[in-house]
Amino acid sequence: MTLQEIAKKFRPPAFPGSYFLSFEGIEGAGKSTQIIKVRDYLEEKGFRVLVLREPGGTSFGEKLRQAILNSQSPIHPVAELHLFASSRAQLLHEVTLKELGVPNTVIIYDRYIDSTLAYQGSARKLGFEAVLQSHSSFPLTLVPHITFYLKIPTDLSHDRQKMRNAPKDYFEKQGNDFYTALVEGYEKASELFPERIIQVNGHQEVEHVFQEIKEHVDSLILENSQRPEN
Ligand SMILES: Nc1ncnc2c1ncn2[C@@H]1O[C@H](COP(=O)(O)OP(=O)(O)OP(=O)(O)O)[C@@H](O)[C@H]1O
Ligand SMILES: [Mg+2]
Repeated sequence: MTLQEIAKKFRPPAFPGSYFLSFEGIEGAGKSTQIIKVRDYLEEKGFRVLVLREPGGTSFGEKLRQAILNSQSPIHPVAELHLFASSRAQLLHEVTLKELGVPNTVIIYDRYIDSTLAYQGSARKLGFEAVLQSHSSFPLTLVPHITFYLKIPTDLSHDRQKMRNAPKDYFEKQGNDFYTALVEGYEKASELFPERIIQVNGHQEVEHVFQEIKEHVDSLILENSQRPEN
């Protein structure tokens, strides 16, 4: 099977009136900033919004998160891949699928499968095929209705990280080649999932970035509200 054929197995969930969104991009791209704005916007429109972050969100996932972030020894890329897939499946089962069943719910993931493609597939060199194969069983075949890929140059990521002055975590300790590979991974993911992934220029004012995102969110909601239910 080609990558394109494998990619076709990944579909958004079908829960009337509920939506699944994700935000992607390298560190400092503006994911957290935009997620807050989108959450506030959708709450004002009357939606119930849940923001989820992997590998947390379940007690099982939180433990895995601490294990990765605090690791003193390098984690093998294959271990890393399966660890993320494992916590993802649990979060989909325990939270996402249940909550999406409640009408007028929006689930927003701060990073999802495209982070795994970029980090483990591209930067850790496992390849896209290995990542997609590890996600070939339900519920891991679920993907968002829209993924916003906030695109920024690697230099800007460094500058924004420096400004934040936060302690560097496991992934942030990597060098330049790693960041270049991440961006390449995100580009490749965007080509593989052209309908789902929307690239947004993250190197503009916060409000401009949000306006672009808002237009896509509005048309997603409009499209679905006009679809006859059967
Ligand atoms: N469009 C923007 N223009 C200027 N600064 C921004 C913009 N968006 C975010 N920032 C600032 O850049 C920093 C990183 O933003 P943010 O935390 O939203 O990124 P992130 O993608 O969530 O990063 P991480 O992957 O590390 O969680 C913050 O200090 C934020 O205020
Ligand atoms: Mg963030």
